Amino acid sequence: MNRQALWNKLIADWGKKAPASKAHFERASRSQVRGGSHSIRLFEPFPLYDKWARGSKVCDLDDNQYVDFWQGHYTNILGHNPPELTAVLADFLRNGGGLQTGFPGWHQVELAEEICSRTNAERVRFTTSGSLATLYAVMLSRAFTRRPLVLKVSGGWHGSQPYLLKGITAYQGGLSLRESDGLHANCAEEIVTTRFNDVGNLEEVFHRCGEQIACFVMEPFIGEGGFMMVDRSYLQKARELTRSYGTVLILDEIISGFRFCVGSLASLYGVTPDLATYGKIIGGGLPLTALAGRADILELANPKLGPGRRVRAEGGTFSAHPSAVLAGLTMIRFLDHHKEEIYPRINRFGEMVRREVPQIFARFDIRVVSTGHPKDHVPGSSMAMLQFPLQGQEEIRYPEEVWNPEICDVEMREKFLRLAFVARGFHAAHGFGSACAAHSEQEIHGFLNAAEEVARIISSC
Ligand SMILES: Cc1ncc(COP(=O)(O)O)c(C=O)c1O
Repeated sequence: MNRQALWNKLIADWGKKAPASKAHFERASRSQVRGGSHSIRLFEPFPLYDKWARGSKVCDLDDNQYVDFWQGHYTNILGHNPPELTAVLADFLRNGGGLQTGFPGWHQVELAEEICSRTNAERVRFTTSGSLATLYAVMLSRAFTRRPLVLKVSGGWHGSQPYLLKGITAYQGGLSLRESDGLHANCAEEIVTTRFNDVGNLEEVFHRCGEQIACFVMEPFIGEGGFMMVDRSYLQKARELTRSYGTVLILDEIISGFRFCVGSLASLYGVTPDLATYGKIIGGGLPLTALAGRADILELANPKLGPGRRVRAEGGTFSAHPSAVLAGLTMIRFLDHHKEEIYPRINRFGEMVRREVPQIFARFDIRVVSTGHPKDHVPGSSMAMLQFPLQGQEEIRYPEEVWNPEICDVEMREKFLRLAFVARGFHAAHGFGSACAAHSEQEIHGFLNAAEEVARIISSC
């Protein structure tokens, strides 16, 4: 394959399709770093700038419409701007509510109760981002245990916060690099990494330094690490080891929470963490995240505790924003009322993509392995990522494989595919993303047809 020829063709197609986004990118780059915020949105050579988004679709500045599988970083399980939520918010605004008041409001307790009862948590603290929620989780764990080390899974992305910016996607003989400058001096030593779903490695780390580990942070469905679900035996071992070493088990469910059922993914495995973080879906499209878990740990944020003991996990000015709380509450209740219809539908779409795209590419002699499959007692999965193994691997099992450019064609998945699909009217990150309730069967078939065209172009270059 001539990669440069492929890239040139993809850039030319995209430039022709979206000239207004291209011009906007040039303007935006003069006032914003790479023309916007959050690198994952700002794909090369220039991103799609949206005008409106409704249901399955997003419309760009050139009035092109795309079927979107990114859906607000996997937030919009009902699709973009669902009327079930926007109508409630419009009423709220009309009736004197909606913007930040600086008071706790009456919806907040209802959302907290919903989250506690659906995730087996005793206390909740709301904040505005996953980064802050995981930061607080680590701060509380270090204070609770009075230990210095943070253990995380390599490939785990938990937001831009100083305790977890190591071993994410930068591959160099493994995933264990510090991935940001500007961190405190001991950062690299205080973060220890372990391989996802590798019980032996986990036991070895705990055996080596378990008494120093404040918390073990992991996603039960790893997102950035490659869309893989935890093995039951691994999650049980993680629970067992953390309990016996007095380490706080933090499950980061920012992606997985309410994605696979109306509650935590861990509950489907019958495991209760000490702390968990929820975001994306629970804010209904507005900035809201929850740190939930054991009362004795979360109560360290209680202002009654004096300096030195108290953890300043405040949440911030916009924490529990009234509109976000109302949107989240409406979302959870809507999901609960329609769960029999929504989850099987989106899981079926996820399954179609995971099963059929590898077969389509195989017809062009291109090897694709899909990830995002459900496991054990998880009934299905609406998530799919496409991997391009370079050495004939039948299965991709670890984030180390997903990000190792000698094992997977990372550039194909992350860079080429996004451009190839967007030029054909489908916005897909990491090869696909997530199905939502607003997608139609026809749109999924449309994506599969586009996959065939993309495979043909790749094989012809
Ligand atoms: C598993 C996980 N944790 C934490 C975060 C960080 O959340 P935020 O972007 O809201 O800071 C993300 C974001 O994608 C995530 O996927």
